Amino acid sequence: MNKRYVIGNLKMNPNSVSETEQYLSTLRKELFGKRIDGVETVVTPPSVYLERFSRELPEHILLGAQDVFWEKEGSFTGQVSTAMLRDLHCGFTLIGHSERRTYGHETDMEVGWKVRAALHENIRPILCVGETSEERDRGEEADSVSKQVTLAFHEVSPLMAERILVAYEPRWAIGTDATPESEDILEMRIVIHRALAELYGPAVADKIPVLYGGSVKAALLDRVCFEPRMDGVLVGRESLYPHELIRIAQSVGAYGVSESDGIEHHS
Ligand code: 13P
Repeated sequence: MNKRYVIGNLKMNPNSVSETEQYLSTLRKELFGKRIDGVETVVTPPSVYLERFSRELPEHILLGAQDVFWEKEGSFTGQVSTAMLRDLHCGFTLIGHSERRTYGHETDMEVGWKVRAALHENIRPILCVGETSEERDRGEEADSVSKQVTLAFHEVSPLMAERILVAYEPRWAIGTDATPESEDILEMRIVIHRALAELYGPAVADKIPVLYGGSVKAALLDRVCFEPRMDGVLVGRESLYPHELIRIAQSVGAYGVSESDGIEHHS
């Protein structure tokens, strides 16, 4: 079984330095005396607050970024490099989040460049993929997601591929309170596994964690994480409440180790 992950994507929050302090201090208080076992918990704040998070994040919570640029250095106004993230002890970065694809017009090709740049700096990409509601209505969700996965892993070696986490985030489930059924999530997990197995073979594909994201709440974990046998969750709005993020991380970490996960595994 793969390690489990809970990623808290704070998006464009907190709104100020003082709110950031407040968030970090609440997170520390909420964690006091608690253990989060069996799961890697990562928080991805906006880049302007990365340094503060890097200094003040409680032990056992890891730091991630929300995006990164593919070029190493140079005249790229507004961009953040992989070396900058590394310097701040960012071990992870989201790449290809649907809000970046929508508002930043990020293409699959750029997503692939970012994935390779992050890996090169030993930062683990959390690759976000997912279909639009129109694609799902047309029955094209599997094709759309397979294509996003295949293009993002382009030219990534098998060894490096194992460092990537894939987050399946159907676009219509983000920020909406609409959540897919467990069977639909499991189906897409299988689609992602198949795309990876075609690139690397099943043994490598088995090792690449697949998370679910989109309106995740503690009360929905059975449906969006445990029943579809996901390796964790990517949490948006609920991660703005430290106690909820910790509750989700504790539940995901505590969930029993299962023998069968509905996917054909190979050693
Ligand atoms: P919500 O949990 O707010 O729907 O956001 C999901 C998301 O985009 C996480 O990256």
